[in-house]
Amino acid sequence: MRSPLIAGNWKMYKTVGEAVELVEALLAGLGSTTDREVLVCPPYTALDRIGALVAGQPIALGAQDVFYEAEGAYTGAIAPRMLRDVGCTYVIVGHSERRQIFGDDDAQVNRKLHAALANELRPIMCVGESKPQRDAGQAEAIVIGQVHAGLANVTASQMQSVVIAYEPIWAIGTGDTATSADAQAMHAAIRRTLTELYDAETASGVRIQYGGSVKPENIDELMAQPDIDGALVGGASLKADSFLRIVQFR
Ligand code: PGA
Repeated sequence: MRSPLIAGNWKMYKTVGEAVELVEALLAGLGSTTDREVLVCPPYTALDRIGALVAGQPIALGAQDVFYEAEGAYTGAIAPRMLRDVGCTYVIVGHSERRQIFGDDDAQVNRKLHAALANELRPIMCVGESKPQRDAGQAEAIVIGQVHAGLANVTASQMQSVVIAYEPIWAIGTGDTATSADAQAMHAAIRRTLTELYDAETASGVRIQYGGSVKPENIDELMAQPDIDGALVGGASLKADSFLRIVQFR
Protein backbone atom coordinates (compact mmCIF):
# COMPACT_ATOMS: atom_id res chain seq x y z
CA MET A 1 0.00 0.00 0.00
CA ARG A 2 1.09 3.52 -0.75
CA SER A 3 1.42 5.61 2.36
CA PRO A 4 0.08 9.13 1.70
CA LEU A 5 2.61 11.96 1.59
CA ILE A 6 1.47 15.45 2.59
CA ALA A 7 4.15 18.01 1.76
CA GLY A 8 4.41 21.73 2.41
CA ASN A 9 6.22 23.71 -0.28
CA TRP A 10 7.00 26.97 1.46
CA LYS A 11 8.41 28.61 -1.66
CA MET A 12 10.18 31.94 -0.93
CA TYR A 13 8.50 32.50 2.43
CA LYS A 14 9.74 32.39 6.05
CA THR A 15 12.89 33.67 7.71
CA VAL A 16 14.69 31.17 9.94
CA GLY A 17 12.83 32.45 13.00
CA GLU A 18 9.46 32.21 11.26
CA ALA A 19 10.29 28.73 10.00
CA VAL A 20 11.17 27.54 13.50
CA GLU A 21 7.93 28.96 14.85
CA LEU A 22 5.86 27.15 12.21
CA VAL A 23 7.60 23.80 12.68
CA GLU A 24 7.28 24.01 16.46
CA ALA A 25 3.54 24.54 16.04
CA LEU A 26 3.32 21.62 13.60
CA LEU A 27 5.21 19.30 15.95
CA ALA A 28 2.94 20.32 18.83
CA GLY A 29 -0.22 19.71 16.78
CA LEU A 30 0.72 16.56 14.89
CA GLY A 31 0.34 13.88 17.51
CA SER A 32 1.22 10.37 16.42
CA THR A 33 0.23 9.95 12.79
CA THR A 34 1.66 6.70 11.53
CA ASP A 35 -0.45 6.06 8.45
CA ARG A 36 0.73 9.16 6.57
CA GLU A 37 4.01 10.92 5.96
CA VAL A 38 4.49 14.64 6.59
CA LEU A 39 7.15 16.68 4.80
CA VAL A 40 8.15 20.34 4.91
CA CYS A 41 10.23 22.06 2.23
CA PRO A 42 11.50 25.37 3.65
CA PRO A 43 13.78 27.77 1.75
CA TYR A 44 17.48 26.81 1.72
CA THR A 45 18.41 29.27 4.46
CA ALA A 46 16.17 27.53 7.01
CA LEU A 47 17.06 23.91 6.15
CA ASP A 48 19.86 23.47 8.64
CA ARG A 49 17.88 24.76 11.62
CA ILE A 50 14.71 22.93 10.66
CA GLY A 51 16.70 19.76 10.01
CA ALA A 52 17.94 19.87 13.61
CA LEU A 53 14.43 20.53 14.88
CA VAL A 54 12.73 17.63 13.07
CA ALA A 55 15.46 15.01 13.58
CA GLY A 56 13.78 11.97 15.14
CA GLN A 57 10.34 13.62 14.78
CA PRO A 58 7.48 12.61 12.46
CA ILE A 59 8.27 15.40 9.96
CA ALA A 60 10.63 14.85 7.05
CA LEU A 61 12.74 17.60 5.50
CA GLY A 62 12.98 18.45 1.82
CA ALA A 63 14.44 21.16 -0.39
CA GLN A 64 12.61 22.98 -3.17
CA ASP A 65 15.25 22.44 -5.85
CA VAL A 66 18.79 21.15 -6.33
CA PHE A 67 21.57 21.48 -8.91
CA TYR A 68 22.77 18.34 -10.66
CA GLU A 69 26.54 18.75 -10.35
CA ALA A 70 28.33 17.36 -7.27
CA GLU A 71 30.38 20.52 -6.64
CA GLY A 72 32.22 23.20 -8.52
CA ALA A 73 32.13 26.78 -9.78
CA TYR A 74 28.34 27.13 -9.95
CA THR A 75 27.57 30.41 -8.22
CA GLY A 76 24.28 30.34 -6.38
CA ALA A 77 23.71 26.60 -6.78
CA ILE A 78 23.24 23.92 -4.11
CA ALA A 79 24.46 20.34 -4.55
CA PRO A 80 22.58 17.17 -3.50
CA ARG A 81 25.23 16.26 -0.94
CA MET A 82 24.74 19.63 0.77
CA LEU A 83 21.04 18.86 1.16
CA ARG A 84 21.79 15.45 2.66
CA ASP A 85 24.23 17.13 5.01
CA VAL A 86 21.50 19.28 6.61
CA GLY A 87 19.04 16.41 6.95
CA CYS A 88 17.02 16.49 3.74
CA THR A 89 15.56 13.21 2.54
CA TYR A 90 13.38 14.69 -0.23
CA VAL A 91 13.84 17.32 -2.93
CA ILE A 92 11.33 18.87 -5.32
CA VAL A 93 12.45 18.97 -8.96
CA GLY A 94 10.73 20.56 -11.94
CA HIS A 95 8.24 22.73 -10.07
CA SER A 96 6.38 24.85 -12.62
CA GLU A 97 7.80 28.02 -11.07
CA ARG A 98 11.31 26.66 -11.69
CA ARG A 99 10.33 25.72 -15.23
CA GLN A 100 8.63 29.04 -16.03
CA ILE A 101 10.71 31.60 -14.13
CA PHE A 102 14.13 29.95 -14.01
CA GLY A 103 14.03 28.09 -17.31
CA ASP A 104 14.36 24.50 -16.05
CA ASP A 105 13.54 22.22 -18.98
CA ASP A 106 12.74 18.50 -19.07
CA ALA A 107 16.38 17.55 -19.66
CA GLN A 108 17.52 19.53 -16.62
CA VAL A 109 14.70 18.12 -14.53
CA ASN A 110 15.87 14.63 -15.51
CA ARG A 111 19.47 15.44 -14.56
CA LYS A 112 18.35 16.84 -11.20
CA LEU A 113 16.25 13.75 -10.57
CA HIS A 114 19.21 11.45 -11.27
CA ALA A 115 21.49 13.58 -9.08
CA ALA A 116 18.96 13.35 -6.24
CA LEU A 117 18.65 9.57 -6.55
CA ALA A 118 22.43 9.14 -6.66
CA ASN A 119 22.58 10.94 -3.30
CA GLU A 120 19.76 9.08 -1.58
CA LEU A 121 17.34 11.96 -1.87
CA ARG A 122 13.80 11.11 -2.91
CA PRO A 123 12.84 13.37 -5.80
CA ILE A 124 9.33 14.80 -6.05
CA MET A 125 9.00 15.45 -9.76
CA CYS A 126 6.36 18.05 -10.64
CA VAL A 127 4.42 17.92 -13.88
CA GLY A 128 1.43 19.92 -15.06
CA GLU A 129 -0.19 21.71 -17.96
CA SER A 130 -0.97 25.40 -18.44
CA LYS A 131 -4.46 26.80 -18.93
CA PRO A 132 -4.08 27.30 -22.70
CA GLN A 133 -2.80 23.73 -23.00
CA ARG A 134 -5.80 22.40 -21.06
CA ASP A 135 -8.22 24.51 -23.10
CA ALA A 136 -6.67 23.13 -26.27
CA GLY A 137 -7.30 19.57 -25.06
CA GLN A 138 -3.57 18.89 -24.69
CA ALA A 139 -3.37 18.48 -20.92
CA GLU A 140 -2.78 14.74 -20.88
CA ALA A 141 -0.30 14.79 -23.77
CA ILE A 142 1.74 17.55 -22.09
CA VAL A 143 1.77 15.85 -18.69
CA ILE A 144 2.60 12.41 -20.05
CA GLY A 145 5.36 13.96 -22.16
CA GLN A 146 6.84 15.51 -19.02
CA VAL A 147 6.63 12.16 -17.23
CA HIS A 148 8.47 10.39 -20.07
CA ALA A 149 11.19 13.02 -20.35
CA GLY A 150 11.67 13.50 -16.63
CA LEU A 151 12.00 9.77 -15.98
CA ALA A 152 14.44 9.04 -18.82
CA ASN A 153 16.86 6.28 -17.79
CA VAL A 154 15.29 5.83 -14.36
CA THR A 155 15.11 2.14 -13.43
CA ALA A 156 12.15 0.32 -11.91
CA SER A 157 14.00 -0.09 -8.63
CA GLN A 158 14.84 3.63 -8.54
CA MET A 159 11.15 4.40 -9.11
CA GLN A 160 10.45 3.16 -5.59
CA SER A 161 12.08 6.37 -4.36
CA VAL A 162 10.42 8.74 -6.84
CA VAL A 163 7.27 10.74 -6.09
CA ILE A 164 5.34 12.45 -8.88
CA ALA A 165 3.33 15.60 -8.19
CA TYR A 166 0.61 16.52 -10.67
CA GLU A 167 0.21 20.28 -10.41
CA PRO A 168 -1.90 21.95 -13.09
CA ILE A 169 -0.26 25.37 -13.48
CA TRP A 170 -3.60 27.17 -13.62
CA ALA A 171 -4.48 25.80 -10.17
CA ILE A 172 -1.30 26.94 -8.42
CA GLY A 173 -1.81 29.86 -6.08
CA THR A 174 -5.07 30.78 -7.79
CA GLY A 175 -7.64 29.24 -5.47
CA ASP A 176 -8.82 27.35 -8.55
CA THR A 177 -8.44 23.60 -7.85
CA ALA A 178 -8.87 20.88 -10.43
CA THR A 179 -12.05 18.96 -9.68
CA SER A 180 -11.27 15.76 -7.86
CA ALA A 181 -12.56 13.85 -10.89
CA ASP A 182 -10.22 15.71 -13.30
CA ALA A 183 -7.30 15.25 -10.92
CA GLN A 184 -8.09 11.53 -10.53
CA ALA A 185 -8.28 11.12 -14.33
CA MET A 186 -4.81 12.64 -14.77
CA HIS A 187 -3.37 10.61 -11.90
CA ALA A 188 -4.75 7.44 -13.48
CA ALA A 189 -3.21 8.43 -16.83
CA ILE A 190 0.16 8.96 -15.13
CA ARG A 191 -0.08 5.57 -13.43
CA ARG A 192 -0.97 3.90 -16.75
CA THR A 193 2.13 5.50 -18.23
CA LEU A 194 4.24 4.11 -15.39
CA THR A 195 2.81 0.66 -16.11
CA GLU A 196 3.87 1.01 -19.75
CA LEU A 197 7.32 2.33 -18.86
CA TYR A 198 7.92 -0.22 -16.08
CA ASP A 199 5.36 -2.77 -14.91
CA ALA A 200 2.10 -2.89 -12.96
CA GLU A 201 3.76 -3.60 -9.64
CA THR A 202 6.21 -0.70 -9.95
CA ALA A 203 3.43 1.63 -11.08
CA SER A 204 1.18 0.69 -8.18
CA GLY A 205 3.94 1.51 -5.70
CA VAL A 206 4.63 5.07 -6.91
CA ARG A 207 3.04 7.87 -4.96
CA ILE A 208 1.37 10.55 -7.08
CA GLN A 209 0.57 13.77 -5.24
CA TYR A 210 -1.87 16.43 -6.33
CA GLY A 211 -0.93 20.11 -6.00
CA GLY A 212 -2.64 23.38 -6.81
CA SER A 213 -4.72 25.30 -4.27
CA VAL A 214 -5.04 22.36 -1.89
CA LYS A 215 -6.72 23.59 1.27
CA PRO A 216 -8.64 22.28 4.29
CA GLU A 217 -11.90 22.58 2.31
CA ASN A 218 -10.90 20.28 -0.55
CA ILE A 219 -8.32 17.85 0.87
CA ASP A 220 -10.81 15.16 1.98
CA GLU A 221 -12.41 14.87 -1.44
CA LEU A 222 -9.05 14.82 -3.22
CA MET A 223 -7.64 12.16 -0.91
CA ALA A 224 -10.72 9.99 -1.42
CA GLN A 225 -9.66 9.45 -5.05
CA PRO A 226 -7.98 6.08 -5.61
CA ASP A 227 -4.91 7.41 -7.43
CA ILE A 228 -4.29 10.52 -5.34
CA ASP A 229 -1.64 9.60 -2.79
CA GLY A 230 -1.00 12.91 -1.13
CA ALA A 231 -0.71 16.61 -1.69
CA LEU A 232 1.94 19.20 -2.43
CA VAL A 233 0.65 22.25 -0.63
CA GLY A 234 1.87 25.82 -1.15
CA GLY A 235 -0.09 28.68 0.39
CA ALA A 236 -2.04 26.57 2.87
CA SER A 237 1.19 25.06 4.25
CA LEU A 238 2.40 28.42 5.59
CA LYS A 239 0.05 28.42 8.58
CA ALA A 240 0.07 25.66 11.18
CA ASP A 241 -3.70 25.33 11.55
CA SER A 242 -4.47 24.94 7.85
CA PHE A 243 -1.55 22.59 7.18
CA LEU A 244 -2.42 20.46 10.22
CA ARG A 245 -6.00 20.14 9.00
CA ILE A 246 -4.74 19.05 5.58
CA VAL A 247 -2.42 16.49 7.19
CA GLN A 248 -5.40 15.20 9.17
CA PHE A 249 -7.45 14.49 6.03
CA ARG A 250 -10.15 11.92 6.51
P1 PGA B 1 -0.56 26.36 -3.89
O1 PGA B 1 0.87 25.90 -4.48
O2 PGA B 1 -1.00 25.32 -2.92
O3 PGA B 1 -0.29 27.69 -3.25
O4 PGA B 1 -1.49 26.46 -5.06
C1 PGA B 1 1.13 24.56 -4.74
C2 PGA B 1 2.53 24.40 -5.30
O5 PGA B 1 2.98 25.25 -6.08
O6 PGA B 1 3.23 23.42 -4.98
